[in-house]
Parts: sequence; C-alpha cells; structure tokens
Amino acid sequence: MREVAVIGVGMNKWGELWEKSHRRIWTEAALAAVDDAGVDRVDAMYVGCMSGGLFVGQEHLGALLADELGMGPIPGTRVESACASGGLAFRQAVLAVAAGAHDIVLASGVEKMTDVDGGAATYALSTAADQEYECYQGITFPGLYAMMARVHMERYGTTRRQLADVAVKNHAHGLLNELAQFRMKVTAEQVMGSAAVADPLRLLDCSPITDGAAAVVLCPLEMARKLSKQPPVRVAASAHATDRIALHERDDMADLASTRHAAALAYKQAGITPKDLSFCEVHDCFTIAEILVIEALGLTARGKGGAAAGSGLTAQGGKIPVNPSGGLKSKGHPVGATGIAQIREAVLQLRGEAGKRQVPKARWGLTQNMGGTGASTVVHIFERAEGRKR
Ligand code: COA
Repeated sequence: MREVAVIGVGMNKWGELWEKSHRRIWTEAALAAVDDAGVDRVDAMYVGCMSGGLFVGQEHLGALLADELGMGPIPGTRVESACASGGLAFRQAVLAVAAGAHDIVLASGVEKMTDVDGGAATYALSTAADQEYECYQGITFPGLYAMMARVHMERYGTTRRQLADVAVKNHAHGLLNELAQFRMKVTAEQVMGSAAVADPLRLLDCSPITDGAAAVVLCPLEMARKLSKQPPVRVAASAHATDRIALHERDDMADLASTRHAAALAYKQAGITPKDLSFCEVHDCFTIAEILVIEALGLTARGKGGAAAGSGLTAQGGKIPVNPSGGLKSKGHPVGATGIAQIREAVLQLRGEAGKRQVPKARWGLTQNMGGTGASTVVHIFERAEGRKR
C-alpha cells in the first residue's frame, strides 16, 4: 500500500445559505481545495452526503458533482453513513490512493439542510436512527443523546454545568473561526438557561441545522513531496468501526464502542498513543457527545470526561485541545460535510496555518466523525510531514 498525503483543503462560510444552491455550495469548497492543492485535475472524487433526497430532493450526487466540477468523465462516488458520511468518503479516497487505483483524488462533503422546515429536518436526521425501535416511538436525535446524558450523569456524577462547559469552550474556540456558523461567546449560565430541547439538553447543548460543504485533495505521499506547493500532511491512520444502531440494544448506553474500536485500530496503525496527540477534532453534535467521545478516545478515563472542558484540559492552551475549530457546536453541522471539515482543520493545524486558533507545535492530529448515536465511527490520524525536496 502507498502512503497517502493531503495536499489541498477548501471550505466555505457555513450557516443558512438560502441564496446558494446545493451544487454551488459544494463547488465552492471543491474548487477551493483543488486550487489550494495547486493541481489542474483530479482522477476521481468522493462526496459524503447524508440525505440529498430529503433535504433538497437531489440524489445521484457522484455524477452530478463530477460534472459540476468540469472534470467528467472521472468516477464520482457518493458515500453515506449518516453524520459520518464525510469521514467515510475521505476513508474511501485514502483506500483508493493507497491501493494505487487513483493518484489525485478529491474527498468532499455537502449538506443543505435549511431549505426544509425544522420538523422536516428532524425527520430527515431521524432516518439515521432505528426506524422500528426508535423513530416509530417518537424519539429524535436530541432525545437519544439526552438519554445517553442521563445515564452518564447518574452513573458517573456528571453535572449539568459540565455539559454546559463543553458548549462554552467550543463557542470560545469558534469565535476565532471566520467560517463558523455561530461565532459567539456563551456563558454556562446562558447554556443552562437556554430553551429546553430534550431534558437535560438545551438549545445551546445542540449542534445547529446548517448548510455547508468542505473538500480536500489527496495523493501518494511521494508525489505530494514533488508536486505540492503546500507542506504535505501524512495520513498516518484510517479506521472505521460500527455498532448496533438502536441505543437500547447496546451493552452500555454511556459508551461509544465504535469510537473505542476505531480509535484503538487507528493508534495501532499510527504507532502512537493518545498522549502523543497535539489536538483532536471530534463529533460534538451534542455537549454530552464530546464527553463520551474523549473517553472513548482514551483522552480521559471512563466516566471522567465531564470535567475535561471546565478544567481547561481540552481548551486551547490545555494539555490536549479538543475542537480548536469550534466543533460542530459553533462551526455548524451540515451532516455530510462535517467529517471533511474536521480534516481540513487538522491539515491547517499541522501546516501551521490555523491563524489565531493555531495549536503550538502541532505534530499529530486526530479526527473522529460518527453517525447517529455512534453506530458508525471513522477515526483518522494525521502527521505533519517533510515538505518538498529541494
Ligand atoms: N446553537 C446556537 N444557536 C442556535 C442553535 C444552536 N444549535 N440552533 C438554533 N439557534 C438559534 C437560531 O439562530 C435562532 O436565533 P434567533 O432567534 O436569534 O434568530 C434561535 O436559536 C432559534 O432557532 P430555530 O432555528 O428556531 O431553532 P429550532 O428550535 O428550530 O432548532 C434545535 C433548534 C436545537 C432543535 C435544532 O438546531 C436541532 O435539531 N439541532 C440538532 C441537530 C441534529 O440532531 N443533528 C444531528 C446530530 S446526530
């Protein structure tokens, strides 16, 4: 297998983009990534999208977007794994380059969620849960994560204030991200006093409904060293794991087993431990999700994740900054694009190009992107690599 590098990244400003079409949102990010990579062609493309059909009535995205890029007849593949669609699209691109099937590959993600009303968006998202055992009973994603939060609070003593601390931290990080949807400082009191969504989760515990896209360009590491004007970032590990979709069928509702499995595989592939990481971008679709994820990644012991944000451990300047981009909470969560945007942030950090939100001396970065309540997880580890040979 060949070693793989990321040589270009692109993303547009996320939010309610009513004046832009689904394909235009995607094309802006894709062309930005191609331009950043300094290439004039890609040999194949992958696009992560959870539900083009329910959000904008458009499927068959592989062909549509390859044409939109002006690079048809290249192979264009749409990848779906709920909110992990972007991360899984990237993994397919990594495998294609590593296997020698293609040299220069675009991995991208897009979702346009605000053309439908809140009820329709909630329905579209709920199709990623177990229809028969969860959705038919009236449960929604905020409701499912609320149950996970309750179990964690009752078993480990995690407090309402600790959930709020995650939102406070990620909104503080997102203030420094000019592409984030909600660039605003929030206090723990504001989070705890915001509108109830599904007890104990409140409005400011939730990721928003977002329109947006992100894209990255990959090629073999050896080619990157010769071709790219940018310092290449090596893909040190790519891992994917699954779990039972229905929450009640899991061994433990307060444990993200798929994240634990994918992380263990990824650390082994990269030959590092959690202690070596400089930062992580993780799937904080709800505040409780970040707490569960950092435990499953081994950044804290099981049951101890609640204290991490408030103690400063996972804040900028802390031992292991988590979500320097602002995370899904502040940056936004256009579900199919989220996993790719995490990778864009990791690449910027490892190139030393993250501006005011730069993590000092970043060498190893991890991204974790999950679908549903964690029935699928994709974990990638990246390393800053040596640049062009002179
Ligand atoms: N964070 C911060 N502010 C938010 C927000 C969020 N997550 N969601 C909405 N807002 C703001 C809006 O900008 C708006 O502000 P304004 O009154 O100043 O204009 C206000 O809150 C109300 O927005 P609205 O769009 O009416 O909210 P809503 O009640 O329809 O939806 C949620 C709020 C939390 C229910 C919705 O964002 C949601 O479902 N989020 C979860 C998405 C999800 O499940 N994703 C998949 C994860 S697995």
